[in-house]
Amino acid sequence: MSAPVVARTRTELADLLAKRRESGERVAFVPTMGALHDGHASLMREARARVTEDGRTGPLVVSIFVNPMQFAPGEDLDRYPRTFDADLEICAREDVDLVFAPSVAEVYPGGDPMVTVDPGPLATVLEGRSRPTHFHGVLTVVGKLFGLVRPDVAVFGQKDYQQLALIRQMSSDLCLGVEVVGAPTIREADGLALSSRNQYLSAQDRVEALALSRALCAAQRADQHGPEAALAAARTELDSAKAVDLDYLQILAPDLSQLPADVPPGTEARILIAARVGSTRLIDNMPLHLGREGTP
Ligand code: PAF
Repeated sequence: MSAPVVARTRTELADLLAKRRESGERVAFVPTMGALHDGHASLMREARARVTEDGRTGPLVVSIFVNPMQFAPGEDLDRYPRTFDADLEICAREDVDLVFAPSVAEVYPGGDPMVTVDPGPLATVLEGRSRPTHFHGVLTVVGKLFGLVRPDVAVFGQKDYQQLALIRQMSSDLCLGVEVVGAPTIREADGLALSSRNQYLSAQDRVEALALSRALCAAQRADQHGPEAALAAARTELDSAKAVDLDYLQILAPDLSQLPADVPPGTEARILIAARVGSTRLIDNMPLHLGREGTP
């Protein structure tokens, strides 16, 4: 276990990566906002595996940057947890080669950029309904980070499912040449999806928050009976969770388009939930396999 090199500027980052790139190594990238946990560690492992070939591993870069552009006024930018020393320890444990931890001025040298990424219609549903400018900020910074790191592969968590779908779409639509990989959500033993925002939950809120994963699991258990049954099962779980203020609970196709009115047996889908527990907004999602063939 050795401490990763930390690059604070674009020039340091470029210099540190140049030699590795010249020798033909593929670059793996995990963009984060810090407050790292086991979920991030699993993204790092996945990223490293993607650039390991014939016993040779390309460089793994992790960025730590709390991006002001993806927070609306009144959101949690100022109280977002900043735990740089602990983050570096996790990066060291996961054999990260390079941590890119720029300042806001380094990422946005001229203040707000004049040219930004329009995330399109997929950013107006689900999270986009209550956070209308969020994905505009996410895609703009991820586009910039892709430009600075120039990775071959980048890994994001499926927990932020809509974010993953939008970044994948951006890489494809703008021909960025980055393979975007989604890694499964890591959960606590009791089902709570790991998230940097879990730190905001009081002990009581944390217990209440379990209703989200319980609802999604209930939907999975009922999914062979179709989407209505799956939604009803999830709602029953949520009905008994009085401290959970539901924002949305929806079943969509895996690419987040609407499902057809008549869902053929065996249709893959995703159930997505967002809710406020205390003062903390949580999101989660799980895959569904709707109306399995041969099941009444
Ligand atoms: O998921 C996150 O941590 C952030 O939205 C990301 C992708 C690092 C962009 O700031």
